[in-house]
Amino acid sequence: MYFDLENLPTQEKYKFLSALVIPRPVAFVTSQNPEGLHNAAPFSFFNMFSEEPAIVILGISHRPNGKSKDTINNIRSKQQFAINMVDKSIIGAMHIASADFPSDESEIDYAGITLMPCKQIDVMRIAEAPVSFECRVFQIIDLSDRRALILGEVLGIHLADRILDPITKRVIPEEYSPIARLYGNEYAWLGKRYSKAIPSIDEIHQLGLAAGDLPKD
Ligand SMILES: Cc1cc2nc3c(=O)[nH]c(=O)nc-3n(C[C@H](O)[C@H](O)[C@H](O)COP(=O)(O)O)c2cc1C
Repeated sequence: MYFDLENLPTQEKYKFLSALVIPRPVAFVTSQNPEGLHNAAPFSFFNMFSEEPAIVILGISHRPNGKSKDTINNIRSKQQFAINMVDKSIIGAMHIASADFPSDESEIDYAGITLMPCKQIDVMRIAEAPVSFECRVFQIIDLSDRRALILGEVLGIHLADRILDPITKRVIPEEYSPIARLYGNEYAWLGKRYSKAIPSIDEIHQLGLAAGDLPKD
């Protein structure tokens, strides 16, 4: 089966792409409007793309009524935002915050989360989140009249002590389980892990396909 995207309606393109590029992590974004009101909303068109500079990217669409979302309005005006990663501790809050709140009403009051100051940006983060990234706008790319990409430069990272091994300074996999977005109303948790180093070219010459085998457990 093959689909030429030129012949697909926009909604179908969205459905295919978002159902096929899975799983996606969720950025629970906190931002602030010019009146000082904090906003929180989840975005799964999100990932990290560079470490020097440290860049994360969000894809934000317009609302179905054509108006822009509070998050992008706030980010455009303030040029700063925080990305809070979502695990079990704030998943209920994430669902509440995804509702279509009016701009003058804060999701935070309903979501049962606590805001805490950041260090380098004047926007609050979510205290209960396992990880928060302090970001400032690196670039905003308006792809069309319905979607924009926000490239955020990460200035600082807050990590809950429990997820970091104090000696190795590595994330403890059993303690960090961010949610994954699938499509529609579907989500997943990280499943079984496995470990496999990138094979060297010598290994491939020697072992052929066996160089791609997974370790038996
Ligand atoms: C898990 C999840 C992921 C979402 N991802 C996106 C996304 O990547 N881009 C987007 O524009 N909207 C996304 N949404 C919808 C927004 O969260 C929703 O439109 C929200 O009301 C926007 O709030 P705001 O107007 O306060 O910014 C997502 C919703 C959920 C529940």
